[in-house]
Amino acid sequence: MSILKGKVALVIGGAGEVGEGVVRQFLTHGATVVVPSRDEYRIEQLRNHLGQICCDRLITFQAGCTTEEGGHDLRKKIENEVGHLDTVVASIGGWWQGEQLSQVPLRIWNHIMENSLTAHFVAAKTFLPLLADQEGSCYIFLNGGAALYAIPTAGPISITASAQLMLKNVFVAEYEQHPIRINTLLVKTKINTRSQPNPKPYWITADEVGLYTVYLASPACDLRGETIIFNERGEIPILFE
Ligand SMILES: NC(=O)c1ccc[n+]([C@@H]2O[C@H](COP(=O)([O-])OP(=O)(O)OC[C@H]3O[C@@H](n4cnc5c(N)ncnc54)[C@H](OP(=O)(O)O)[C@@H]3O)[C@@H](O)[C@H]2O)c1
Repeated sequence: MSILKGKVALVIGGAGEVGEGVVRQFLTHGATVVVPSRDEYRIEQLRNHLGQICCDRLITFQAGCTTEEGGHDLRKKIENEVGHLDTVVASIGGWWQGEQLSQVPLRIWNHIMENSLTAHFVAAKTFLPLLADQEGSCYIFLNGGAALYAIPTAGPISITASAQLMLKNVFVAEYEQHPIRINTLLVKTKINTRSQPNPKPYWITADEVGLYTVYLASPACDLRGETIIFNERGEIPILFE
């Protein structure tokens, strides 16, 4: 199926657990997919996991969004070597659980802020201005249930996830007059990824997340400014195979 034929999607965090499903679904549905990773080994692993679906529509770069310079370099690489961009999916920031908040070392706090919030900010401030006035463009934040609940011993994750929701809301308000559609997909369950040894049947899979983000990026979707929340697998609509 080629619902995204001719479209170019940047999947930041595409080498991650959830990102893999997003990348696979965008490739399956005809898009060219750009995946940056700070670690070349993770890109190699992604290619191995994707297997046969890998093709010349998958373009990878060693890059990150920790600093403005990093974001700027990634944007330049895309402009120079890909030339065009329609969609950004920000699948940025992983899980952490450790001490109660009052015991969290500042070093860990800063690390989680940098990867789970600042990287979203840098990615959005780098790519939203590029896409804002382009008809059919969209920016999708991925987020989890920690944004809505205080999870003991995972405080920095709950705090960054919650702030990520407001980050998106501010960008939505500031780009209200522009054609770009900005949405968050928030999955409240764990996501069934390549590393989950005993997934529960009600967990949404990484590929189901990917398929829904394909829908959000497709011309069939007119959602804008939304936070779409899925509590469990059964709630995902059947859009297309
Ligand atoms: N896994 C779940 O059960 C679950 C459930 C609900 C929601 N989610 C959401 O899914 C998203 C991804 O989670 P995940 O489980 O796939 O995590 P993951 O496997 O740890 O992947 C996270 C990705 O974020 C990228 N990243 C982190 N810091 C970055 C930075 N400074 N600059 C650029 N990229 C950076 C990493 O890129 P590198 O390749 O450069 O390391 C990595 O690929 C998160 O937004 C999370 O809230 C996950």
